[in-house]
Amino acid sequence: MSVPVITIDGPSASGKGAVASRVAAALGFHYLESGALYRLVALAGGNAPEKTAAGLQVEFRDGKIIFSGQDVTEKLREEAIGVRASEIARLPSVRSALLERQRGFRLPPGLVADGRDMGTVVFPDAVLKVFLTASAEARAQRRYKQLNDKGKHATLAALSSALEERDKRDAARAVAPLKPAVDAVSLDSSEMTLDEVVDQVLKKYREKYRESMYR
Ligand code: CDP
Repeated sequence: MSVPVITIDGPSASGKGAVASRVAAALGFHYLESGALYRLVALAGGNAPEKTAAGLQVEFRDGKIIFSGQDVTEKLREEAIGVRASEIARLPSVRSALLERQRGFRLPPGLVADGRDMGTVVFPDAVLKVFLTASAEARAQRRYKQLNDKGKHATLAALSSALEERDKRDAARAVAPLKPAVDAVSLDSSEMTLDEVVDQVLKKYREKYRESMYR
């Protein structure tokens, strides 16, 4: 039997990362935050991003991201890096350079992967595919709070328009655009707490897993 994968895709600040890491912890599964790879390529800079992508020296250790010997966990979350990541993520050469590396995270006993194309391109045979959304206001508010909690200043209006622009670019690109897989379950988290979303995903996974045993 192949190693089970749960994919959680969706627009920026929909809560994918928080949900995915908690679901992974609850099941004892590995966790892939695919956006971090695109963010790392953006952070590394240089004028040949596909080469950077192919040679990324990165380590995911105890919730920290270590790049070239440095802890870049905080730096990577900056909104400016997110914007650069989405520009680079349009390039098919960068996407294909990262494809096998992402699949390499599929190890026993299972994987939870979050991003934009986890269910459509990277793990098309995932047991459960979730497309997590939230209203534009809820997402801007969450990102605003996230940044402020870290002592980083941003205005709600500026954040809101930056997120909107990034989502438009992610949804409009030719390769691996942001869109639900045909067999994805959509969840709108605008009015839900994090715990409620996590419980829903775990419940759906148990249902799918049971179904797959009888197939
Ligand atoms: O956390 P947030 O949703 O704001 O962003 P992220 O998941 O870290 O992704 C940053 C950018 O990387 C996105 O805007 C996408 O353009 C790109 N990305 C992608 O193209 N494919 C993925 N599987 C993950 C991220």
